[in-house]
Amino acid sequence: MPHAMDPASQAPTKPLLAVLGGARRQSVPIWLMRQAGRYLPEYRALRASAPDFLACCNDPDMAAEITLQPIARFGLDAAIVFSDILIVPHAMGQTVRFAAGEGPLLEPLDLAMLDRFAPKKAVEGNLPLFMTLAKVKAALGTDTTLIGFAGAPFTLAAYMVDGRGGGEFPATRALMVEEPPMMDRLVAILAEAVAALLIAQIDAGAEAVQLFDSWAGLLDEPGFRRWSIAPARTIVDKIHAARPGVPVIGFPRGVGVGYGAYAEQTGVDAMQFDQGTDTAVMAGLQGRLPVQGNLDPEALLEGGVRLEREALAVLEALKDGPHVFNLGHGVIKETRPEHVAHLVEIVRGWRP
Ligand code: CP3
Repeated sequence: MPHAMDPASQAPTKPLLAVLGGARRQSVPIWLMRQAGRYLPEYRALRASAPDFLACCNDPDMAAEITLQPIARFGLDAAIVFSDILIVPHAMGQTVRFAAGEGPLLEPLDLAMLDRFAPKKAVEGNLPLFMTLAKVKAALGTDTTLIGFAGAPFTLAAYMVDGRGGGEFPATRALMVEEPPMMDRLVAILAEAVAALLIAQIDAGAEAVQLFDSWAGLLDEPGFRRWSIAPARTIVDKIHAARPGVPVIGFPRGVGVGYGAYAEQTGVDAMQFDQGTDTAVMAGLQGRLPVQGNLDPEALLEGGVRLEREALAVLEALKDGPHVFNLGHGVIKETRPEHVAHLVEIVRGWRP
């Protein structure tokens, strides 16, 4: 079986897997996007000993330790493997650098490079990731779920075409208008690569996987269907066929009303929502699938009464269906670890 099962009921016993399987529990499971990282002093200490961020990801002992740091500190319901979405272009042959203070910088994408982008390189070039997953899996307690992840094809394509982040992605926008078949081709290659990478992560120990389409909100409606929903459907179908029973969580960040179409058309098992989504919209989708989210990371940064008020509002709004507590986007690096501990206390102490 892909994950821990209770032999009597055949239902998953880990709280997060139970909810991702559709159960509604007395206690709401919680994990946080970017729960490992720079807001933790123990991360900064380890990170200082590595030459750069990618070296950290490629050192299984270090990456496993970083993955486990927030589990040791806060007792969250899931460990998300410490890695990055940009390991895919890097392994396929487009060099990625993480320059201090600048975010990721990618070597310019020469469209002739596309011929050399073999999807299997996304797996073969990332062997340390699988070692990290195996190490974390061996170290986790019986109640904690191991999550693998990947960037979705459109979000990866945006970084690859523009060569950097920043949210504007002018070259990607131009390519979509001027040469849509080229975008189709890049997205199709990436869908194969991402499916293979996620299946390999499952084989290495991941019990659920999340697909981050962080920039899907830039797409217009036809673009969203063509470059976010369609490749997600391909990826989800491949994972379900190859490793049935392992939940896939979809995150088309910033798509507003598009969340419903994504939930319906991609076949994902659960959905992550950003903080721009009204919890009433999430509640409306709970009859179809489990929902994850969507506390504003700014509320966690601020802490105190705002954190309490907003966390309780999310819990109340989603109490009638399967809900996994999470933020609407990653933990902000200035966040005080004490605020995360407080949030876990709020969620653990709440009852419907
Ligand atoms: O959630 C976790 O704790 C697991 C680790 C994780 C990282 N990146 C580590 C990281 C995850 C899930 C990601 C996903 C990721 N990476 C996304 C999708 C989610 C999102 O934020 O929308 C994206 C778009 C990236 C690309 C990326 N990686 C950027 C833009 C940056 C630089 C800016 C930033 O937020 O730090 C990174 C670097 C990165 N990825 C760091 C970490 C801990 C910082 C590296 C450092 O320590 O210097």
